[in-house]
Amino acid sequence: MPNIGSVALKNNIILAPLAGVSDYPLRQLSRDFGVGLTYTEMISAEGIYRNNHKSKHFTFVKNEHPICAQIFGNNPDVMAYAASYFEDQGADIIDINFGCPVPKVAKQGSGAALARNTKQAVAIISSVRKALSVPLTIKMRLGWSAAEENYLELSRQAEKEGVNAICLHPRYATQMYTGQSNWDKLLLLKQQSKIPIIGSGDIKKSIDITNHLSQYGADYIMIGRGLLGNPWLISEYLQTPPKHIKDTIELHFKYMVDFHGEAKAAKLFRKFISKYLKHFSNAKELKGLGNKLSGLLDLQNLLGLINV
Ligand SMILES: Cc1cc2nc3c(=O)[nH]c(=O)nc-3n(C[C@H](O)[C@H](O)[C@H](O)COP(=O)(O)O)c2cc1C
Repeated sequence: MPNIGSVALKNNIILAPLAGVSDYPLRQLSRDFGVGLTYTEMISAEGIYRNNHKSKHFTFVKNEHPICAQIFGNNPDVMAYAASYFEDQGADIIDINFGCPVPKVAKQGSGAALARNTKQAVAIISSVRKALSVPLTIKMRLGWSAAEENYLELSRQAEKEGVNAICLHPRYATQMYTGQSNWDKLLLLKQQSKIPIIGSGDIKKSIDITNHLSQYGADYIMIGRGLLGNPWLISEYLQTPPKHIKDTIELHFKYMVDFHGEAKAAKLFRKFISKYLKHFSNAKELKGLGNKLSGLLDLQNLLGLINV
């Protein structure tokens, strides 16, 4: 398994950046299960430049390693500023988001919109690369649409500019999250690249990890939605002792309480509890309770009602 620049990872599994989801508690839990690297949610470079408290809160905590801080924006100088800021804060790797298709981001000319503006994307990479000593990665899709597919060209230029690894989520921006990711496209990227390639998209089971590594030659596998409510796919793949289901759910919630406070944690945890409950035969009857969760006692009560 190759290093990402100067950073050696203990294995080839990466927790994906998931805005509004891959917060510190989820990253902690994923590390407990053994992932080799975690990404922050995407962070607005403008927000960092303007000293926006919310942008800073989204980031990572001291001594959280290894951590890749992902930034988005479209101004090369502002992106370089934000990248340096996170390097100073202790980020091991910086990643530039060229893949986010959501209108709020793309309308500003950031994220996946930069896939349509290779010149600006390369200017950003060049500016950020010069500002950093830590490794730099980019995360991209296949292009804006099938008619504007340009991931191979952007990757070639990114590699020339000194990017240390490329993450590909092989969908077009216009697809958002519909259809299937097309990993055959990743094979082509792998064939033209000398730097490590990270594959992202539709990994749901531990067998998917094994298959995608061998069939498509990815150096690393990034997992997003498949890990929500199912961190066990990591322990299955790494063949580490499985962690107890109820204990894991409670631990995840406790991590959230420590980070967000109990009331906010209870609200935020609702998006995870429905996924965790799928492991149990009486999931349907417990869903209502999961949606009303207001604190640790409620969660413990719910866990007591679970049929294993
Ligand atoms: C709720 C959600 C938030 C996401 N946020 C980000 C993000 O902040 N940055 C990014 O590069 N990709 C983001 N993605 C894309 C994921 O990182 C990943 O590439 C994509 O979901 C495909 O992988 P998966 O099928 O394993 O989820 C997000 C996806 C989802 C579903």
